[in-house]
Amino acid sequence: MMKRILSFFVAVVMVITMFTVPTVSAQTNPNSKGDQQKMINIAHRGASGHAPENTMAAFQKGFDMKVDYIEFDVHMTKDGELVLMHDLTVDRTTNGHGYVSDLTLDEIKQFDAGSWFHEDFVGEKVPTFEETLDVFRGKVGLLIELKSPERYPGMEEKVAEALKERKMDRSSNHKVIIQSFNHESMKKSKELLPHIPHGVLAGPSWANVTDEQLEEFSTYADYFNPNMTIVTPELVSRIHAVGMKIFPYTSRTQEQANRLFELKVDGIITDFPEHVYFHPVKNQ
Ligand code: G3P
Ligand code: CA
Repeated sequence: MMKRILSFFVAVVMVITMFTVPTVSAQTNPNSKGDQQKMINIAHRGASGHAPENTMAAFQKGFDMKVDYIEFDVHMTKDGELVLMHDLTVDRTTNGHGYVSDLTLDEIKQFDAGSWFHEDFVGEKVPTFEETLDVFRGKVGLLIELKSPERYPGMEEKVAEALKERKMDRSSNHKVIIQSFNHESMKKSKELLPHIPHGVLAGPSWANVTDEQLEEFSTYADYFNPNMTIVTPELVSRIHAVGMKIFPYTSRTQEQANRLFELKVDGIITDFPEHVYFHPVKNQ
């Protein structure tokens, strides 16, 4: 009898293990070994190579893949609600039409944000910023991008309020970062949330960023996150010299991830987190 109970117990454990061990586990992550370079793995718009960008499905996939951060983009609706979407309009990533700023939250919630990607995601909704905080805070790092804040007066205050309500603005919380291409917005946000690290995003036109500019950024930002095409070993050194870190965007191939590894950046923003885990780390 005892033997039978034991076999049943072993079988149950085996079945549970089969269904819960993620595709990419910490054990198979070469970065988890102590003698190898640790690379921060950031799922861009969630694990958007595997699930529709900026949806709960993509964030959950990133979480299941054990990334360090999920990245997402924040816009504001006509009725002042913060929602997650990359583009100014809902057209590309939902079955709706129009500018986010011309639609109410109720209208946006009617749209399907998953079927454009794959039929497996039919019914996926556009998440709000607050819903996402409530599901993922404390579980995975959040890299919050304010999209076009110049179009949305009061956006920085609303983001700060949502974080403060949840006590996510404390100095001990190192798993929230706010970033934007709008650097004035980051200055303002840093004043509202002095304990939260901020990042300046830099497109290809910042290829010749000067040391003076980097110094200035470092007065309010902790990260200089550039388009990966402008990253050179010198740029990485200069960013580190002013005390900032660098998370380039957006790696979509294994070769791109490998190159960023060799450049010794601090983190990689990628649609495919598995590329960061499976980088063939050289002996050092
Ligand atoms: O995290 C940086 C990256 O997301 C910026 O580019 O256009 O994908 O939001 P984009
Ligand atoms: Ca983004």
